[in-house]
Amino acid sequence: MTGTPWSAGRVLALPGRGPRLLFGRMYEDPRVEERVFPAAPARVLCVASAGDTAAALARAGYDVTAIDVNPVQLAYARARVEEGAPAARGSAELMLAAARRTTAAALVSWRPDALRAFLDLADPRIQSLWWRTRLDGPGLRLLMGAALRPVGVLAAALAPGLRHAVPARFDTELRARIARVVARHPNADNPLLAALLTGRAPEPPPDGPSPADGVRFVLGEITEHLESVPAGSYDAVTLSNVLDGPGPAYRRRLRAAVERAVRPGGTAVLRSVGSAEGAAAVRAEAERCPLWGSLYVTTVGGTA
Ligand SMILES: C[S@@+](CC[C@H](N)C(=O)[O-])C[C@H]1O[C@@H](n2cnc3c(N)ncnc32)[C@H](O)[C@@H]1O
Repeated sequence: MTGTPWSAGRVLALPGRGPRLLFGRMYEDPRVEERVFPAAPARVLCVASAGDTAAALARAGYDVTAIDVNPVQLAYARARVEEGAPAARGSAELMLAAARRTTAAALVSWRPDALRAFLDLADPRIQSLWWRTRLDGPGLRLLMGAALRPVGVLAAALAPGLRHAVPARFDTELRARIARVVARHPNADNPLLAALLTGRAPEPPPDGPSPADGVRFVLGEITEHLESVPAGSYDAVTLSNVLDGPGPAYRRRLRAAVERAVRPGGTAVLRSVGSAEGAAAVRAEAERCPLWGSLYVTTVGGTA
């Protein structure tokens, strides 16, 4: 298959048709791109999704193209970036909110007040101890097992084309990823962890340049877009989840399209929830959001 299941605009196997809002906010750490991309004002392509990455890159001075195959998602991202429209809940946030409600009802240490105290910590050693002794207990293991194993609630809830994108033991994987994140990054400076565990919206960015003028929004499929633009049109691309779902033929097609559309020496970043070994796994650990299992950073025309 050379297409992508994301074209349907749905992540959940619910009745009904047509695209929906999937992500009301983004779970990517834009510091990764700011660290590895060529210097601004480079020409960069990102997934529009909820608009957060596009806005962060535009604020950092990049010339941003934000693309999405889902028209609902694109309109939402555009409204947030250009008009400052308020955040809404997409399918991802509805699933996360249900998971948090269940966990807080079952486990005292996961109630909102206790989590707030945990998320205010700034010392990774204390955070790690807190995670191991108060949060990552048998109750959590049971709940996450029921929710995230291949026969669990998540697999049943996901649209068929996206089911196999979730790692086989996502429950143990995700607990290990959270443990790594809290052992490395101060919670008090980790809005991505707070968003995941409490749904807390990140602080509005400090006064600075508006991202509105720096982003061009495009409705379309990423591979088709990269195949259609002149060679060397971009200095960097960042793609998250786009290979979570599609098969190997799509992967090959995307790779060829990136190598043509990004100028030699440019950068490609690719995140996936799937597990990896080696450099991609180590890089994922540098992310402040624990959802990611692999983070590939490639120099076009050579590897980094
Ligand atoms: C790639 S993920 C990004 C979600 C990510 N977890 C985040 O932090 O926002 C979701 C977005 O990418 C879009 N998308 C996925 N594959 C795409 C593709 N091949 N072309 C265009 N958009 C795509 C989806 O429509 C969705 O809005």
